Amino acid sequence: MTLVAGVDSSTQSCKVVVMDAETGAVVREGRATHPEGTEVDPADWWRALEQAIAAAGGLDDVAAWSIGGQQHGMVALDAEGRVIRDALLWNDTRSAGAAEALIDQFGAESLAQRTGLVPVASFTITKLRWLRDAEPDNAARVAAVALPHDWLMWRLRGFGPVGESAGGPVLEELVTDRSDASGTGYWSPDAWAPGLDGYDRELFIAALGHDAVLPRVLGPAEWVVDGAERRVAPGAGDNAGAALGVGAGTGDVVVSIGTSGTVFAVSAERTVDPSGTVAGFADADGGFLPIVVTLNAARVLDAIARLLGVDHTALSDLALAAHPGAGGLTLLPYFEGERTPNLPDATASLTGMTLASTTRENLARAAVEGMLSGLGAGLDALREVGVPLERALLIGGAAQSAAVREIAPAVLGLPVEVPAPGEYVALGAARQAARIAGA
Ligand code: XUL
Repeated sequence: MTLVAGVDSSTQSCKVVVMDAETGAVVREGRATHPEGTEVDPADWWRALEQAIAAAGGLDDVAAWSIGGQQHGMVALDAEGRVIRDALLWNDTRSAGAAEALIDQFGAESLAQRTGLVPVASFTITKLRWLRDAEPDNAARVAAVALPHDWLMWRLRGFGPVGESAGGPVLEELVTDRSDASGTGYWSPDAWAPGLDGYDRELFIAALGHDAVLPRVLGPAEWVVDGAERRVAPGAGDNAGAALGVGAGTGDVVVSIGTSGTVFAVSAERTVDPSGTVAGFADADGGFLPIVVTLNAARVLDAIARLLGVDHTALSDLALAAHPGAGGLTLLPYFEGERTPNLPDATASLTGMTLASTTRENLARAAVEGMLSGLGAGLDALREVGVPLERALLIGGAAQSAAVREIAPAVLGLPVEVPAPGEYVALGAARQAARIAGA
């Protein structure tokens, strides 16, 4: 039996699956939690990875491994391989002004053409510009910039700061993959080819203020090795990892309803959307992953369940007891502002309240319909940039709600399938490892 390991270093926790590479069966698992907050010391991710690996029975018997992880986080390293400051995560919004400054400087159309992205606070490029302006001393010390999965791979392969690693601070050994590089805002899929890393150095320097080492971008079939000569696959951003794990193909759109809502499709064609609604990510298979990300997803249901004093099963029962359209009650669910559409300061609102429509059932239904409508708008945006959509695959915590599953086909305008709940990012990473292990 050939064993491989896949890791998901997500915002909230680190999960490790050890898989039989021939059958795809998960034979061992482990997990550990990450600290809360939108800026985190990467050392906490490293400790969680070590704990999760130990809980999964270690890696001694695996032939290959791969790490998927939360995208966009800024891990800034000095020349000795030390982390300069806590990493700013994808959900940290302090760089919203930096995003606007970059758009003013280069133009949304040009940035979308060059990188597939129009900057918003989530993307790494805006965090670097923020660092340059807010913490110039820290910015000046930056010798390399990595993403969470790149840095964890580097550490697990044995590299790291002097005194903390066997391999030492060899910054040139940092590697990443196309999917995660495509979320930086300074990488161009068109410029990536054998011998060319694809980075847009003009944009990178405009953000940070000077050039630095960036991780080498591995192709989907490439690998590197760790200190024990095990093969290490390129890894992936979490959305591309989930696409691999769930087995999404052309025509599938994955609708992931967790803390954030993500709507993404695998596509052979690169997409360019100067409005910024659709981010033109790459996938982990040599293709593309056009994606729309919303901030208001599962927590919309949490908020209304709390308000009604019920659990999620009862919320679902209430929603299904109401008629479609909730008697005219409409919840516009921008509880957390919104990323797509770009309305960072928006708040939620409830309209259509009459004496007849204002019932617990209608409110529960309006929450489900409102949340799904936000995701449905993401599907429409994908269609508008030419992505063919035939079937929706519903994953994430809220996909377990009966009301969400029943109401989704009408709101999304597609047949809906709900794969069995699973750690799809870690499974996607494990599949990647299985490929390069020769299984
Ligand atoms: C994608 C994004 C999130 C993070 C969460 O653009 O910001 O999906 O990857 O982990």
